[in-house]
Amino acid sequence: MLTKAPSLTWAEVDLEAIAANTRAVKRWVGDRVEVIAVVKANAYGHGAVPVARAALSAGASRLAVHRIAEGIALRRAGLEAPILVMAPLLPEEAPEAVRWGLTPTLSMPEAAQALSAAARAAGRILPVHVEVDTGMGRAGLLPAEVLPFLRALQDMDGLSLEGLYTHFATADESDPSFAMRQLRRFEEVIGTLEAAGIRIPLRHAANSAATMRFRAAHFEAVRPGLALYGMRPSREWDPPFPLRPALTLKSRVIRVWTLAPGESVGYGRTFVAHREARMALVPIGYGDGYLRVLSNRGAVLIRGQRAPIRGRVSMDQIVVEVTGIPEVRVGDEVVILGRQGSEEIRAEDLAEWAGTINYEITTLISPRVPRLYRSGETLRPEGAPAEAAPSPFAIP
Ligand SMILES: Cc1ncc(COP(=O)(O)O)c(C=O)c1O
Repeated sequence: MLTKAPSLTWAEVDLEAIAANTRAVKRWVGDRVEVIAVVKANAYGHGAVPVARAALSAGASRLAVHRIAEGIALRRAGLEAPILVMAPLLPEEAPEAVRWGLTPTLSMPEAAQALSAAARAAGRILPVHVEVDTGMGRAGLLPAEVLPFLRALQDMDGLSLEGLYTHFATADESDPSFAMRQLRRFEEVIGTLEAAGIRIPLRHAANSAATMRFRAAHFEAVRPGLALYGMRPSREWDPPFPLRPALTLKSRVIRVWTLAPGESVGYGRTFVAHREARMALVPIGYGDGYLRVLSNRGAVLIRGQRAPIRGRVSMDQIVVEVTGIPEVRVGDEVVILGRQGSEEIRAEDLAEWAGTINYEITTLISPRVPRLYRSGETLRPEGAPAEAAPSPFAIP
């Protein structure tokens, strides 16, 4: 039983799993291909700074985030690796991008000019990347726009064109044909640039799925997120190397009671007991990122067994049925996501129950849930010194 918990509900992130997954990706792509660790959205909910450190120590050489503010947070924490910001840069963001030495993605002339001016004013040369929209239909320049844009960039001081990239829309799907079409379009753009005498040192395209499936998409760097967290890109095929899920979401039982026949649980009375049932209250709800759509659908692990959710998920709590686990007591540890004994609930399971994707399951874990970082047997909050002993969060 848990005697000193950090909070009613908390997440444990296994940094050795992040490192092992990063090493597995690095082994898969080989020495000549760089790994850009995608740590946007708080590293898919795992905590950007500790995850970035673990990935860099295990073979990643660069980081990628979506927004300037995410890059600044990593710099403030002392991370010095190159940080690619994948959102198209806005002109007004240029001074901050230069000040924090971030690597912006450029796709409009006004932003390029503003960045050039900011870099010149600071006496710096800033590496930049350009994204090509080969079929994702989201961000980036269309293939025909790339050459004129890069020609214009060549005339701007303070900028150095380091990278060209694209992003796949369907790399996770069994049918590779659209991904291959995107790859061909990307290669055509590269061919056009080379014919015009423009060589780009760092070309990258592959998310986790494409890293695993399409060697031709590795170029000089791959850009995985999901795989680093030990999550699977697809239900349709198995990853070619083992992945270790890095995040466990835990809570504990705070009430146990008997529900009489005819009595109900929660808002809307969506669960009514037909016979006497033992119920347990667990303090996790949609305010923690536990999706309300899991009402009457999800399950948790207590004493190594599955306990189904009864009634609606509230903001702060759920009720689970423990009739089949009579030993359950107040204080028992509850695993919402992760392994307990021989049972496991993966992000992929929660995603299936909720009709969504594993990315959303971990990314939505809210700031109210403290993250603790596991290294061997020790668990500590972000930033706590390694020698802090004994940890107030130790689980006896
Ligand atoms: C542009 C870009 N590159 C790379 C990634 C990483 O993808 P994944 O987590 O599937 O590996 C993402 C994630 O959504 C992305 O938006």
